[in-house]
Amino acid sequence: MALWGGRFSDGPADALFALSRSVQFDWVLAPYDLRSSLVHLSILEKAGLVQLNDGASIRAGLMELRSEVASGSFLPIESDEDVHSALERGLTEKLGTLGGALRAGRSRNDQVATDLRLFTIDQLLEVGKSVIKLQIALLHKSKDYVDAPAPGFTHLQHAQPIVFGHELAKHAHALQRDTARIQSWYARSRTSPMGAGALSGSSLALDPVASAHALGFSFAYANSVDAVSDRDFLVEALFILALIGSHLSRMGEEWCLWSSTEFGWAKLADAYATGSSIMPQKKNPDIAELARGKAGRLIGNLTSVLAMLKGLPFAYNRDLQEDKEPLFDSFSTLNLVLPAFTGMVETTIFDRQKMAKAAPTGFSLATEIADYLVKKGTPFAQAHEVAGKCVHLCEQRGIELHELSDSDLTNIHPALKPDVREVLSVEGALASRTTFGGTAPAAVVDQINTLLEAVAVSHDWFYSESNQFSGMMGA
Ligand code: ARG
Repeated sequence: MALWGGRFSDGPADALFALSRSVQFDWVLAPYDLRSSLVHLSILEKAGLVQLNDGASIRAGLMELRSEVASGSFLPIESDEDVHSALERGLTEKLGTLGGALRAGRSRNDQVATDLRLFTIDQLLEVGKSVIKLQIALLHKSKDYVDAPAPGFTHLQHAQPIVFGHELAKHAHALQRDTARIQSWYARSRTSPMGAGALSGSSLALDPVASAHALGFSFAYANSVDAVSDRDFLVEALFILALIGSHLSRMGEEWCLWSSTEFGWAKLADAYATGSSIMPQKKNPDIAELARGKAGRLIGNLTSVLAMLKGLPFAYNRDLQEDKEPLFDSFSTLNLVLPAFTGMVETTIFDRQKMAKAAPTGFSLATEIADYLVKKGTPFAQAHEVAGKCVHLCEQRGIELHELSDSDLTNIHPALKPDVREVLSVEGALASRTTFGGTAPAAVVDQINTLLEAVAVSHDWFYSESNQFSGMMGA
């Protein structure tokens, strides 16, 4: 059933209908549309715009429709244009012309903006919960390897040794910024467009602030034109999702490297690795690769909506219908990647011996020589030069730094005494990095414990906000 047509003498061409139809993807908004219809009904009743008897029938019809939508017994049909028209058809099939009463004082313009916002809040809170599960997996794994030395890299070259727990935990810190971003997004995005109508508000005695509160928003839009035009909440959500995807992609790259034959640091559990159809020996890190690859579509979804919005006139234009598929796709993508990635992290085992053996190679202790000289009063630039000469000599001879003889050392610089070898150990280098945030095992344990406490706080926040939100959905 079309929601318009009075002023037309001809029905829509098939090609137009096919192009403009959105119910095949916007049906996921149905529970939110029903929720906002129930609130709109109460507002109409309060304003005396729907008689008490009629109100009770419409409410019963909406509740029935809600359980039919939930069970899948009510579904859109070919002739439904979008989620709003499909649900109005459902209600009209039950109530006759009374099913159209809810259209008073509202438009699909404020309706779709409201539904989308409710959907995005619901989904983004769920993403936050999944991110927290991954953080906990990473932090527990970090604790297991807090005493495991490994090479640390810059430019993907051996730089300075670090403890491997430090390397793993860094990802949980990036994810903490992601959940914090969702929290601040939430505070900013809980504004209700409902009551804005097509664009200008309504001559009926509606109460946008009351409907905002009934829907779980904190307030209503102060400008009705802005209310129906604004998709900032959606773009910001897409950015948050793209950044989470980019974090997962960088993690994925590390898992690919670490599980390669050349590194041989990471052993993936069979359940979280794949084989090859032709090479029987293969065990591939597909989860890590897909995480790396899917960051591309998450970034694409963000840019496609930004491009659609650029230069778009206010208030509603049909272009805005293009905001949905990218958003839905970003959520379904991360809903697939996050649990798989978490399972992979939980079950990966790292080879301590291999990592420890690699830790001092590549002259990764050269900075220790420079720091040793600085402590003896040599300016750093000169100390750096001296340490570089030590590396140069070792390279010529094919030896490691601690293998330089006493006379090699004094020949390079008189301040280089044999006791410099004491700082040329991985354990010594690690233990000395006690600065806040540094790689000394004790400092890393502190970092992990502090972050675990912060994660427990955000965990409680996400679960309580989403319980509250889903409670309102059922009301
Ligand atoms: N399906 C539309 C969308 O997703 C709903 C709003 C349609 N509004 C209109 N005036 N045609 O944006």
